[in-house]
Amino acid sequence: MDSLLAFSSFLVVIFLAISLQILFFSPISPDILEIPSSSKTFINGFTSNNYLQRANKLGEGFLDRPEDVVVDKMGILYTATRDGWIKRRHKNGTWESWKYIGRDSLLGLEVSSAGHIIVCDTEEGLLKVSEDGVSILASHVNGEKIRFADDVVEASDGNVYFSSASTKFGLHNWYLDVLEAKPHGLLLEYNPLSNHTSVLVDNLAFANGVALSANQDYLVVCETWKYRCLKYWLKGENKGQTEIFVENLPGAPDNIKLAPDGSFWIALIELSTRGQNFVHKSRTTKHLLATFPKLINWVNGAYYKAMVVNVGTNGKIIKGFDDSIGKVMSFVTSALEYENHLYLGSLNSDFIGMLPLTTSTT
Ligand SMILES: *[C@@H]1O[C@H](CO)[C@@H](O)[C@H](O)[C@H]1NC(C)=O
Ligand SMILES: *[C@@H]1O[C@H](CO)[C@@H](O)[C@H](O)[C@H]1NC(C)=O
Repeated sequence: MDSLLAFSSFLVVIFLAISLQILFFSPISPDILEIPSSSKTFINGFTSNNYLQRANKLGEGFLDRPEDVVVDKMGILYTATRDGWIKRRHKNGTWESWKYIGRDSLLGLEVSSAGHIIVCDTEEGLLKVSEDGVSILASHVNGEKIRFADDVVEASDGNVYFSSASTKFGLHNWYLDVLEAKPHGLLLEYNPLSNHTSVLVDNLAFANGVALSANQDYLVVCETWKYRCLKYWLKGENKGQTEIFVENLPGAPDNIKLAPDGSFWIALIELSTRGQNFVHKSRTTKHLLATFPKLINWVNGAYYKAMVVNVGTNGKIIKGFDDSIGKVMSFVTSALEYENHLYLGSLNSDFIGMLPLTTSTT
């Protein structure tokens, strides 16, 4: 009897210790997150088609998790890889390690009208990369260091628009921002003439992809864990105002890119493994996961599948492609349409996917 009592006391002490550990060391103060029910299936009559399994692999083995893809006027393709390089692929198919930056924190890229590359660095802000080398365009906004620069687009007037996914969490613990489910993201504008950066929109839910409409009268910025993208008007009577562009997406939006026909391609990631949405509805579970980050691998669904959707200017999904089991690609983070192909970046691949947009996929 005594030994049973001692053992029970021991269990109680262990339980209290773990609870205290969780409460004191949890890095988050979480809110409940409702994942839209439509996020489990394609909407507007689309079903899983596994077309992404037909992607060809460009630069296989040479590219360590290329998150974004851009193509310049000469048709040279650029990407930033986790080993700290800006790598590029010439028209003749040859890959080149072009510029070394040396950090694993490089995400979205843009080709500027002047011909250099602008790249988001989650550690340093916005970088300019050219034949002459690397320099910092923007590192601070309102006196604070720019954290988690994520995606970038340049307007024809030279202004650069970019997102700061989270002012609280960094690239390596991005999932904590999802667990906390409080909006720490920003949409920023960099003016190259004044070398000044300003905040256009704050309180965004993990501000991720940024794109400009074809006639540059609005920006679209995607809020990952709200499964939606917003429109921010740059011109016209609604200038400076924000409205919903597309919501209830069938996955959490990552990068967004303008397509040649004026529509948009959005890469969607899976935030939670099947059946584990309950995690996002329980503060206790969130604290537990945040305190023992290894558990996050058990709920984060990004590594299990891939999906991209094409959305019209009216905010309606036109078509979508997926790899429902991550057979060829998973964690696809960007989709660039160029010369009738989709180029797919991923944070879980050692290549860029290239999918022909033939009649069988459209
Ligand atoms: C491909 O083009 C690049 C850039 O012009 C050049 O440096 C490279 O030698 C070419 N490779 C081949 C195999 O022709
Ligand atoms: C522009 O501002 C950044 C800081 O945000 C600074 O590092 C950079 O040197 C400035 N560039 C010029 C040309 O003044």
